Amino acid sequence: MLVVLKQDAREVGQEAARIVSAAVRAKPSVVLGLATGSTPLGMYEELVSLHKKASLDFSKATSFNLDEYVGLGPDNPQSFHHFMQSNFFSHVNFSKDRIHIPSGDLRTNYSEYCLSYEDEIKKAGGIDLQILGIGRNGHIGFNEPNSSLASRTRLKELTLETVEDNRRFLPKGEEIPECAITMGIGTILDARRILILATGKSKAAAVAKAIEGPISSSVSASALQLHPDVTFIIDEDAAYALTQRDYYRRVLELTKKYTPEKLA
Ligand code: F6R
Repeated sequence: MLVVLKQDAREVGQEAARIVSAAVRAKPSVVLGLATGSTPLGMYEELVSLHKKASLDFSKATSFNLDEYVGLGPDNPQSFHHFMQSNFFSHVNFSKDRIHIPSGDLRTNYSEYCLSYEDEIKKAGGIDLQILGIGRNGHIGFNEPNSSLASRTRLKELTLETVEDNRRFLPKGEEIPECAITMGIGTILDARRILILATGKSKAAAVAKAIEGPISSSVSASALQLHPDVTFIIDEDAAYALTQRDYYRRVLELTKKYTPEKLA
């Protein structure tokens, strides 16, 4: 597990975009796993800029988003479909038929639908690079605490904490989603490489538990300790509660010296 410590959210976004763009240039048909939320916004902004100014080409790439709220159609401004469209896809040359985001429109047959989402990932050859954020409760995707560490894409009931976190984004009176369709922790761990981004003090406790705590279904992100190629990119505020910060800096310096390919 590599822990890359950055000064602030802007640097986190830039570093994440550097890694994603290197993956796209190395393999134009790359399969990306994408996240929404406030944390990756800087990364998307930087990727859009690299597309416009440095001809970063997404035309052969495929994407699978982690999750979507049940009950929010793609045109709902609070849906993750809308988020991805307005913050990323409408500004780059991704081919529409290679974009996958779980449907928020379903009302029945969730299990069948989720199996088909897993099948699509398999058919695409699996995810090469998965981007994640982390919730204050340690969730990745919408794998709320106590999700099975082997879980696959499914309907997941949101915690009240997550529901409350979302309330501020929804207009007063609008129904707040209670469930989401999310890739499972097992689905995420199948990705060849994982980048997880965290910024701000509110994430410090979850980040420390994920990196330095025991592996536990109470903190879904701690399951990432089982994956052989995970990079945490975190700013100073989110790194605040880590006890081994100096060692992570040393690992990074020595990685640059001995195995720089790991940082590409
Ligand atoms: C979003 C997702 C969530 C978020 C997490 C952090 O697709 O899967 O796990 O990454 O809730 O959200 P922000 O970045 O808004 O703090």
